[in-house]
Amino acid sequence: MLSWLQKPVNFQEVLVDEYFEPVRADYYAGPPGKPLQLLLQARTDFLSMWRASDYREIVSQIRILGRQVVLVNSPALIRDVVVKRQDNYERKSPQMRRALEYLLGDGLFISDGETWRQRRALVADIVHMNRVPAFGPVMEQTAGELVERWRAMPEGATLNALHEMAGLTAEIISRSVFGNQLGEDSAAAVTDSFTSYQALIDSINLGYFIGFDDGLPILRTPSLRRSVKRIHGIIDKVVEDHLAGRGDHNSMVELLIRRQQRNPELKLDVIALRNEAATIFMAGHETTAATLTWAWYLLARAPWVERSVHAEIARVCANRTPTIEDVPQLAWCKAVIEETLRLYPPVPILARQNRRADTLGDIAIAPNSLILIVPWLLHRTESLFSEPHRFLPERFLGDRRPIPYSYIPFASGPRVCPGLHFGLTEAVLCLAIIAQRFRVRVAESHRVEPVCRLTLRPRDGLPVTLERRP
Ligand code: HEM
Repeated sequence: MLSWLQKPVNFQEVLVDEYFEPVRADYYAGPPGKPLQLLLQARTDFLSMWRASDYREIVSQIRILGRQVVLVNSPALIRDVVVKRQDNYERKSPQMRRALEYLLGDGLFISDGETWRQRRALVADIVHMNRVPAFGPVMEQTAGELVERWRAMPEGATLNALHEMAGLTAEIISRSVFGNQLGEDSAAAVTDSFTSYQALIDSINLGYFIGFDDGLPILRTPSLRRSVKRIHGIIDKVVEDHLAGRGDHNSMVELLIRRQQRNPELKLDVIALRNEAATIFMAGHETTAATLTWAWYLLARAPWVERSVHAEIARVCANRTPTIEDVPQLAWCKAVIEETLRLYPPVPILARQNRRADTLGDIAIAPNSLILIVPWLLHRTESLFSEPHRFLPERFLGDRRPIPYSYIPFASGPRVCPGLHFGLTEAVLCLAIIAQRFRVRVAESHRVEPVCRLTLRPRDGLPVTLERRP
């Protein structure tokens, strides 16, 4: 319905010698002052609605139906929103809260206020950088299993890299959160149900734009209910097994339960434990899968970078499989992942709803407005990154760092991604383990299109061909 109003999106990719600008949507050039058209455009893809003039250090606003929408694209003001005045901006957008509340309840990703503060300390502790090495063996083994499976395929086999990476990172986070005894069938059922849940929810909440400050609840269709019931059933069983002492002692669920036993004032009942386990599971795999998929696309189109990655893996690991202890030495692999996160931030839009009136730059902001920080725009703003659309991992080599609050693939401030170290380590390690054994090729004729709903992915995944490395 009304889709005829949407403008078709053109994409461009530039590859000349060793200069590579990976694919992106053309700047939006629709007539100004047509908020309904913008909203429809956003329903298809959040990234095709930005004009060339948005890729600057600015704060700007539009009105969509009855709602003020403010774009904040300057590092200083982003700092105000996510750090200095965070108490006013801590609340997620109604779209996000409504889309996920059925599945995650009061889980960390969408909670705020006192619940968020209590649970944040708990979850951050469980996925803290000091604990990441304990999950190294899970990452190594799961990536190793993928390599073995790929090796059993004929040379030149074709696969969908997005599906492969989604399976890999879902398996890693599933074993980390629930432990090893979830079993293949239940693990697959949880992963499939999360995928269908995300496909079924609509991430634009029209109710919010027509005046409901908290948006409107999503329609709980029979298929949505089925997905949620399946996920909740499986997670509840894992939690109950752990509570009865039958769980895997190294899992994150076990850590949550032990914390509750030490701090009963947290009042984590089975449902709260389920909500946090589901939150970590959801937040902890799609993002890393998208990162790895985009990295394969970038390396396939930039073989000169791929050569540096291969040379580094050979230098650091010789012929043994990379392990988590190698990660600090894998500077090129890390730079590729960081540059991938700059060009294709898996969460390309951070949306907040302010509680009180405020002023940002010269814009007066009414309570309950929609505040958008858009890493996709920020990371491609020329005054912050030279040649912003170019793939140039060297930006992240050595001591070079982007200026504060200009590079925020994991968000920033008190709500920064607590799984940052887990996710970065996992992405670097999986990249190294796979790149040591395979070149992942993307057909030159294949047109990749970024599409953004909850996360930023290539539309229909990424068809690739595998080439074994000697
Ligand atoms: C490359 C991988 C990852 C990226 C790019 C990423 C990015 C993000 C971003 C941008 C946010 C903030 C969203 C917002 O404010 O609207 C976030 C939140 C979160 N992430 Fe990650 N993430 C990654 C991996 C992980 C992993 C591996 C875990 C868990 C093991 C995790 C757990 C969480 C949780 C629990 C939150 C909610 C935090 C809160 O609201 O206080 N993430 N992530």
